[in-house]
Amino acid sequence: MRIAMIGGGYVGLVSGACFAEFGTEVVIVEADHDKLAALKAGSIPIYEPGLDKIVSTNVTAGRLSFTDALASAIDDVDAVFIAVGTPTRRGDGHADLTYVYEATRQIARHARKNLLVVTKSTVPVGTGREVARILREERPDLSFGVASNPEFLREGNAIGDFMRPDRVIIGIDDTAADGGAQARALMHQLYRPLYLIETPIVMTGLETAELTKYAANAFLAMKVTFINEMADLCEKVGGNIHDVARGMGLDQRIGRKFLHAGPGYGGSCFPKDTRALTAIARDAGSPSLLVEATVAINEARKSAMAERVIALCESSVRDKTIAILGLTFKPDTDDMREASSLPLIHRLVEEGAIIRAFDPEGMKAARPLLPESVIYTGSAQEAATGADALVVLTEWNEFRAIAPDKLKSAMRGSVIADFRNIWDPAALRTAGFTYRSIGRP
Ligand code: UDX
Repeated sequence: MRIAMIGGGYVGLVSGACFAEFGTEVVIVEADHDKLAALKAGSIPIYEPGLDKIVSTNVTAGRLSFTDALASAIDDVDAVFIAVGTPTRRGDGHADLTYVYEATRQIARHARKNLLVVTKSTVPVGTGREVARILREERPDLSFGVASNPEFLREGNAIGDFMRPDRVIIGIDDTAADGGAQARALMHQLYRPLYLIETPIVMTGLETAELTKYAANAFLAMKVTFINEMADLCEKVGGNIHDVARGMGLDQRIGRKFLHAGPGYGGSCFPKDTRALTAIARDAGSPSLLVEATVAINEARKSAMAERVIALCESSVRDKTIAILGLTFKPDTDDMREASSLPLIHRLVEEGAIIRAFDPEGMKAARPLLPESVIYTGSAQEAATGADALVVLTEWNEFRAIAPDKLKSAMRGSVIADFRNIWDPAALRTAGFTYRSIGRP
């Protein structure tokens, strides 16, 4: 079995390396010269635990390679996966499919035999069908199979999510001459190691697979947003959001995961996919008011976090030093996309605050996105040194272990806003802090 993966970004690289680990021969096609050079030199352009090892093992074993030559890459493969970016298109919230269709045209141009073309990028409902149409139109001499195989990889946990997923979704174009039989057999073969560990594999139609991806992400984003609203309510009426979440989550119909209140969701998927789903639903004449509300509530929440800090600092942060622990949208990644640190820090700087920030992995990616005045430090303790207030924005494990009395002696002031609830309120108050977390008394 041999496949090509178009796009050596997050999804393409993780999926390509993991398919190689399953025993398939994989060639990853990456058009960006710097990225390609890095990959060829054995360096991984993103931070993802375990990825470097899996890449190097499979490169050494001869199952994984990188190239920028699409034509030769697809010369002798059974399937081509499209894993290029689908950013939010400016203005209307739709996913921008330029790269997907460009990849499709290139595949059509260079294909020399019948191929299965699989979309792995998150794409709007109808994209798979359009891919099939383009392929038919450009190459009537070949018969392509088309499938949709959306990814459900969490950053920081992507290898585990690929190798031991809750499920795999495969959408097949059943209008193909053979009713999709060949495509089904090929995908079955590719995912054989997962069949062996009894992973549920949902075989369905193209549109259903595409919609399932959006529905899953939107539902999770909604779940997070729901618990964030409940946390706000706890603060008003005197409840503890941890106990509410536990009490709710123990009901197996609800489940305990994704009920951790915080400063609003971010990342490369939830914001983009919720926006895209609302656009798809509106266009289809079946708007999703729940998802629209989720998008609006989350945006407002991220902007409101700065107000909380300002209020805690006696209504002004002017000339005050604020330590920020954690910049990335969640721990175990260096990804800054749509992180709640961005609106918060910009606002605090506008209000005259001096920011001392520390993040174990995200500072390089954060630098171009944050005001120039931000001071980056070598540790959490160093960020706290001389600070009037401290804000926790990402729940990196190393922050959990920080001793309150050490913080207290490093800081000038005694205000802490813990937006990830990583510390114990009683311990922080005993150490002399004015401590505010999310949804806890
Ligand atoms: C997500 C999906 O989980 C994954 O299946 C999909 O394919 C890509 O998008 P990811 O963006 O890597 O993965 O992160 P995830 O762990 O889902 O967290 C998303 C955001 O929600 C983060 O900002 C996180 O801090 C926030 N979150 C998550 C909460 O605030 N509370 C929670 O309980 C869970």
